[in-house]
Amino acid sequence: MKKYLIPLAIVSVVACNAPKPAPAIPTDPAVEAKVESVLAGMTLEEKAGQLVQLNISTLEDATHEAIDPLKLDLIIGQYKVGSILNVMHDAAHTREQTAAMVRQIQEKSMEAIGIPCIYGLDMIHGASYLVEGTLYPQEINIGATFKRDFARMMGHAMAYETRAAQVPWVFSPVMDLGRDPRWPRIWESFGEDPFLQAEMAREETLALQGADPNHIDLEHVAVSLKHFMGYGVPHTGKDRTPAYIAENDLREKYFAPFLECFRAGALTAMVNSASINGVPTHANAILLSGWVKEQLNWDGLLVTDWADIDNLYVRDHVAADKKEAVALGINAGIDMIMDPYDPECCTAIIELVKEGKISQARLDDAVRRVLRLKVRLGLFENPTWEHEYPMFASAAYAHESYDMALESEVLLKNDGILPLAEHKKIFVTGPNANSLRALNGGWSYTWQGSADAFVPQYNTIVEALKARFPHVTYEAGVVYNETPMAWQYEDASGIAKAVSAARGADVIIACVGENSYCETPGNMDDLNLSANQKQLVKELAKTGKPIVLVLNEGRPRLIGDIEPLAAAVVDVMLPSNFGGDALAALLSGDENFSGKLPFTYSKHINALHTYDYKVSEHRETMEGSYNYDAVMDVQWPFGFGLSYTEYAYSNIRVSQAEFKAGDVIKVSVDVTNVGKRAGLESVLLFSSDLVASLIPDVKRLRGFEKIALQPGETHTVTFELPASALAFVGADGRWRLEAGDFRLSCGGQGALVKCTETKVWDTPNI
Ligand code: BGC
Repeated sequence: MKKYLIPLAIVSVVACNAPKPAPAIPTDPAVEAKVESVLAGMTLEEKAGQLVQLNISTLEDATHEAIDPLKLDLIIGQYKVGSILNVMHDAAHTREQTAAMVRQIQEKSMEAIGIPCIYGLDMIHGASYLVEGTLYPQEINIGATFKRDFARMMGHAMAYETRAAQVPWVFSPVMDLGRDPRWPRIWESFGEDPFLQAEMAREETLALQGADPNHIDLEHVAVSLKHFMGYGVPHTGKDRTPAYIAENDLREKYFAPFLECFRAGALTAMVNSASINGVPTHANAILLSGWVKEQLNWDGLLVTDWADIDNLYVRDHVAADKKEAVALGINAGIDMIMDPYDPECCTAIIELVKEGKISQARLDDAVRRVLRLKVRLGLFENPTWEHEYPMFASAAYAHESYDMALESEVLLKNDGILPLAEHKKIFVTGPNANSLRALNGGWSYTWQGSADAFVPQYNTIVEALKARFPHVTYEAGVVYNETPMAWQYEDASGIAKAVSAARGADVIIACVGENSYCETPGNMDDLNLSANQKQLVKELAKTGKPIVLVLNEGRPRLIGDIEPLAAAVVDVMLPSNFGGDALAALLSGDENFSGKLPFTYSKHINALHTYDYKVSEHRETMEGSYNYDAVMDVQWPFGFGLSYTEYAYSNIRVSQAEFKAGDVIKVSVDVTNVGKRAGLESVLLFSSDLVASLIPDVKRLRGFEKIALQPGETHTVTFELPASALAFVGADGRWRLEAGDFRLSCGGQGALVKCTETKVWDTPNI
């Protein structure tokens, strides 16, 4: 055994001086009694099996469409594996097929072990692994709506439709802050800001799980917050590679959304596949056992990500072999290992317990957490269930999805060409113009996304435009290679044909961006929009026809050199199956734009910023002989988005000019629609700490509300801002609200407030 196995394992008991806080999830004596009675009767083999989750492929027969009874005997009967994940043949199935498969597993599990199996699926933007399930815009789009109701609605429908297929656990919501646009998963989260992410994810969590985490009913599911934590900012921008994050940033920004959701009752979390500051997260006892289980007194379950115990030795070289890796992970606080192909993982656990390398206490604690989850989900009484799901795949859910697409697409530039007049001859081009796959992104029917193959009935952008406008022509110009992992490859041989077709039009709608991808296959080396697509736009511009640039992409690909060629720019991101229809309604002016960017749209490859940069990152030229300047120059800032009307902000006021940590400051502002069209406006409240003991962020989002305004109408928005929300985490890892001045700002209006007393506290006590 390697020497370092011991010290890492020892820190799994992290000293915490603060008194034990109230349990993050309220303890229910009946739940605990059931857990204890099951645990008392379990053998070591049964316990080990409960800690292992395998991929469904370990049960599939040769057709990859059905379960092989012999494999079921082996995996469930002999190894006593407690959990299965994923879809057969790596593709969505119908609700009935999925339900039948789960029933078969459950029958075996109850007969062989007397403990139900727990099935988990990657439902990411709706029931993304059910053929008829409702898909919603991806989280990044929901972030752009700045509307909490939408996160709630998506969560509710996702839970309902997933349960309808006999599945009680989803690996959602995604919690990774999209703070590095190079990373291929930023579209899976609600954006770059911790507060926006926390608010949306909390609503989604509550909607997914329902009101009582101890008794999840037949229309709700358990969540798995993922990926705990700091996964979204790899140093290289490449998925599953190391991140380096200062501890104060880790607590203040990356942990905050998780904290919000743990406190809202989240029952499980999935661990960051990579590492932070050199420690693989799956071996990080301080974070897993310390920050979450002990400091929050959280009795939920931590599941690994895909094969990440193996990664401790295969990739990260912090363990010599599988057994060391299993011990390292479980001793750090892992409760369930998503192996995903090797049932021998169970044998490794058994041996480690017998050898004393995993203590009986740690084993039982992990098993309790698995059993507790199953009891809370009601799986012991109802391993499978009879329940009516009349809303499954309903028109009402489809309508919600459309509304979300409508409110998420962001108008970034408009020289007056939009809305498009009815009679215009519209030429549509670009690789994203005729693709449902691109509108949906990854986690859509398949891992890498392949919506066209499953739901051809929905409208692509060009189909939606043809349905709305009388004169629409189309020529792709550039096309994607549609092979799943080859999303970056394009064929640009059609550019000349497209340019010649554009000459006869009044306006060009160029739909560019990315094809769908997911996780590591989405890695790339250049954030610029592809050279082919830029070339297409540049050639089109030479026709002299006005260009409406439509960006359909999972991350903000750089377009600094072609943006000046466009008369208008719309970023639709990944709006899903109704995204084309929503875009047609917005471009025609039937509807008004109201989306705002939930991330910073960078302009230069060497200047990738977030909006909450440190004040000293932007410097004017210094007087004298040295030019020490540093300029923040982004394409569009966080929170930016235009509409067909205009809003004027006035009369910002605060309930108190001075405050202390326990106060709640009321901040009001009047917002008037001074244009000619009705609209929806997301009102964003920011704060700036003017002097602090660590260099302060230039500003931070502290509140948001979306309001509807008729032309001429004024609405007063009042935010209730807990003063404690203005605190930051100091170099010692403690929260600090420091005496001094703060500026609160909203829509260009600002008010100064003063904190009169410094207060310092630890996370669990806020
Ligand atoms: C991803 C997770 C996902 C898991 C199971 C991993 O590769 O990182 O987000 O939940 O696979 O499919």
